[in-house]
Amino acid sequence: MHCQKCGEKAVINMRQHKLSLCKSHFLDWVPDQVERSIVRYRMLTHHDHLLLAVSGGKDSLSLWDILFRLGYSVDGLYIGLGIDGGVKYSENSLKYALNFARDRNLFLHVIDVQAEYGETVPMMTMRTLRGRNKPCSVCGLAKRHVMNQLARSQGYDALLTGHNLDDEAAILFGNTLNWVGSYLIHQGPVLEADRPGLVRKVKPLCRMYEREMAAYALLGGIQYIQEECPHAVGSTSIYYKEILNKLEADRPGAKLSFYLSFLQAKRDGLFSPTADERAESVHSCPKCGQSTSAPGLCAFCRMFFKDKDQLVLDQVDGL
Ligand code: AMP
Ligand code: FES
Ligand code: ZN
Ligand code: ZN
Repeated sequence: MHCQKCGEKAVINMRQHKLSLCKSHFLDWVPDQVERSIVRYRMLTHHDHLLLAVSGGKDSLSLWDILFRLGYSVDGLYIGLGIDGGVKYSENSLKYALNFARDRNLFLHVIDVQAEYGETVPMMTMRTLRGRNKPCSVCGLAKRHVMNQLARSQGYDALLTGHNLDDEAAILFGNTLNWVGSYLIHQGPVLEADRPGLVRKVKPLCRMYEREMAAYALLGGIQYIQEECPHAVGSTSIYYKEILNKLEADRPGAKLSFYLSFLQAKRDGLFSPTADERAESVHSCPKCGQSTSAPGLCAFCRMFFKDKDQLVLDQVDGL
């Protein structure tokens, strides 16, 4: 197998693109592909001040590396969720994010959920869901809230995440299996800040296969946390990824075409918000100021503050 650009020994064969490349051509090909997505979906400009959410994993750290190489101005944000799972997951992933930023002289914000809001994500899950569920939904809520809050308060032009094609295809698979129209409307490479209190959200890796990103991190010498979150074991998203990988093995390119056809369908007017949805009343959460359609507090503040306030009230009532 030879590199199709220079004829040297290839290190990767991407059947989905009918392309094999040597190490140096692959390490240039990836940023080139990301830049194409940035232009194609009008994601960013070189004048934007960007915030990238970094988990310490291969996708977000590779994306930081790629954007740095492409000359974008990007700060990082690591959110300490307090997940241990017997493998010190949060503690170790923070080390990878800190080392990456230090070695390249990049700025990393670190926000620890327990220091900021009094409880770790697992503690919050025990209190609000009484441990009946995994912490993943509480975790997602906390991450979205913290990311949005920091990006807004520090005046960043956009918030970036490292979601890759496999992530996006799995989300799309779940959303179409259950035909969750409201989620389909909002899924895409760019989510505009079309409501007060929201920040523009961008996924520059949305067309990159997970395998391509793993190869980029490995060949580019990027050190990242290899373990998955301990709570991800047995999750629906991993199950959907496995199904899509089986499909991809038989039909190379199936995952990419599934996602790109969806984006085309959206451009053709499918999955657009109805007049009712556009007119849906939203207000600013009285506690944190983020936009919400729920009455009263937003979902995050209800979970993180209301139960605690209620507990205090119950205690006062009991005196
Ligand atoms: P996940 O939801 O774990 O698949 O992660 C998707 C994306 O969310 C990652 O690529 C990061 O951009 C971001 N992310 C996940 N966990 C964290 C974290 N602890 N701190 C900051 N960003 C995160
Ligand atoms: Fe949030 Fe696993 S990363 S529960
Ligand atoms: Zn080559
Ligand atoms: Zn709120």
